[in-house]
Amino acid sequence: MHGYNARSGWSGPALRVLLWQLQSTRGPTATSASNHWTSAALALRFFSSRIILLPSDSLVELRNVRFGYDERAVLQDASLTVPRGKVTALMGASGGGKTTVLRLIGGQYQAQSGEVLFDGRNVGAMGEMRLYATRRRMGVLFQFGALFTDLSVFENVAFPLREHTDLSEALIRDIVLMKLDAVGLRGARDLMPAQVSGGMARRVALARAIALDPELVMYDEPFAGLDPISLGTSARLIRNINDALGMTSVLVSHDLDETFRIADHVVILAEGRVIAQGAPHAVRTSSDPLVHQFVHGDVDGPVPFHYPGPGIEADFGAPS
Ligand SMILES: Nc1ncnc2c1ncn2[C@@H]1O[C@H](COP(=O)(O)OP(=O)(O)OP(=O)(O)O)[C@@H](O)[C@H]1O
Ligand SMILES: [Mg+2]
Repeated sequence: MHGYNARSGWSGPALRVLLWQLQSTRGPTATSASNHWTSAALALRFFSSRIILLPSDSLVELRNVRFGYDERAVLQDASLTVPRGKVTALMGASGGGKTTVLRLIGGQYQAQSGEVLFDGRNVGAMGEMRLYATRRRMGVLFQFGALFTDLSVFENVAFPLREHTDLSEALIRDIVLMKLDAVGLRGARDLMPAQVSGGMARRVALARAIALDPELVMYDEPFAGLDPISLGTSARLIRNINDALGMTSVLVSHDLDETFRIADHVVILAEGRVIAQGAPHAVRTSSDPLVHQFVHGDVDGPVPFHYPGPGIEADFGAPS
């Protein structure tokens, strides 16, 4: 993405074009004061028109990312984009690296090569302070993220506000109740986590993830273990919250139907790479055998069932 990015500023090529344009508006004979003013006005007009016309349209970008927790690479050469303001579904086989991608975006781990950009800035190259500030712009609903069991529903949602802001108690109360209202649980504020169902707990965790009004919300398996009604409700909630609050969402899910229904953009990870990304319909109708196996949940296909390891002969003593 080249151009002006509201937060990170001008990228190289766009800046060169801007400088070239400024030089050409000035012209070789523009020496009088009025000409200078005209040039300045033109420059200003050019500059402001570019601010409106060229915002970067992806909030997150992975460029040729390689990453492994040990010598085995989980991501080999992964490139993907998360369009601003949209719901992006990240799908792929279990163990394929989806949670890992979220950790890289959140700066928990750094790419071994390639870049992970958040709003145009390389997360892996950020110092501690900037990373901390960047993380405040992200909300995460962790895959097995439990609520704090000794805090009430209210205090769970208040937690990030107390941790990251100096807001007054009255403001914290208003924000917490607004967020709980958004997930339909304002009335459950005084319950303890042990008193709410799994689906409700997931919604409290969602209210907590959006407490700080993040620009990006990452949901890791928000539908796991939900009944079909709660699943549909949660999916609609994710879509509505994304649109109503003007957020960008990344949704990791194995639920093909619901995910394809609410996503604007689908990314499929396999074998350490992104094997497909684009509009849900285009991905769903892909003729690539690997993509086809994922989006149709076929048992038979190129994806192996077994985690890589020693051959069956080595483990069960078959004669060599
Ligand atoms: N902290 C860790 N240390 C070492 N290896 C890890 C760690 N976390 C994940 N892995 C390995 O990295 C690979 C990718 O894991 P990841 O959790 O990203 O997969 P996933 O796509 O989220 O899977 P699932 O759909 O089952 O949640 C797996 O092989 C896993 O064993
Ligand atoms: Mg995972």
